[in-house]
Amino acid sequence: MDTEQINKYIKKDSTKVPGWFDSRDMALFFYLNKLQLNAAKVEGDVCEVGVYAGKSLALLGMLSQPHEKLVGMDLFLEDFLEQTQETMKQHCPSVENIEYVKCKTSELRVDNVKKYFPRQLRLLHIDAGHEYHEVLHSLIVMAPYVANGGIIIMDDYHDREFPGIESATLDFCAITSPRQFVPFAVGHNKIYLTTPLYAILYMKALLRQKTYKDKCRLSRIRDNQLLVTNSKRPLSNEQILDLLAANEIPYRYDYDEQALAEKAINYAQFRATGRI
Ligand SMILES: C[S@@+](CC[C@H](N)C(=O)[O-])C[C@H]1O[C@@H](n2cnc3c(N)ncnc32)[C@H](O)[C@@H]1O
Repeated sequence: MDTEQINKYIKKDSTKVPGWFDSRDMALFFYLNKLQLNAAKVEGDVCEVGVYAGKSLALLGMLSQPHEKLVGMDLFLEDFLEQTQETMKQHCPSVENIEYVKCKTSELRVDNVKKYFPRQLRLLHIDAGHEYHEVLHSLIVMAPYVANGGIIIMDDYHDREFPGIESATLDFCAITSPRQFVPFAVGHNKIYLTTPLYAILYMKALLRQKTYKDKCRLSRIRDNQLLVTNSKRPLSNEQILDLLAANEIPYRYDYDEQALAEKAINYAQFRATGRI
């Protein structure tokens, strides 16, 4: 869908759809989608867990490509499935490859969600039950389907009403094997995760967008740097790029490097020959 129509949805049309989705996060969805498709060349489908009446699903629909599948999962209580279908019909009628999954997330297992995802996911928005265990459970079940460079967006990460979302997200990010996700951007009410090597790429690419130039700050959670977009205490792009460059090594193994280097010297192949 073209940028003008998406802009119109963000600025105007979305206000008529019931739900919760701040325009600053809508803008981040828009830019990250663009960077993913054009700069990072990440391929995959799009999924939302927690649809309500389709406010954010409609934007995801507009951002998805014609060959991509869109999956919306929800309890879909009362008439919310019909409301969502109406939202989609009104705001992104050209999106046809949509599957609505009426389910309780706690009943999902890695094996039984496979059928919904013929390909890996490039965007996954998690906005269903807001308590610690259900958030962590959704992450554990869904993350195996997310592509390298795929983006997981966690709703209400900063909401004091739901302290479990932050804990579940950070506990999930502390899992390093078989694969790690790290936070790389803070939106208005959401935090954005990706796989480590893409984090720096997305941060630098966001800074190059006019909307974020000189309006962000670099912060840190544990070993990861992340961009606070539209910061109250912004740094210049130059300052942020300097800070990023100073920490260019994306990760370090938790290993005693000095002791290992000594062993590498003592037990070197060429040591016995006296050549080193
Ligand atoms: C905050 S709303 C989603 C808002 C939506 N993304 C928007 O843009 O307005 C949360 C949704 O999660 C769904 N939900 C809550 N717990 C759930 C569960 N255990 N399984 C599936 N869906 C759930 C609710 O039915 C509700 O529609």
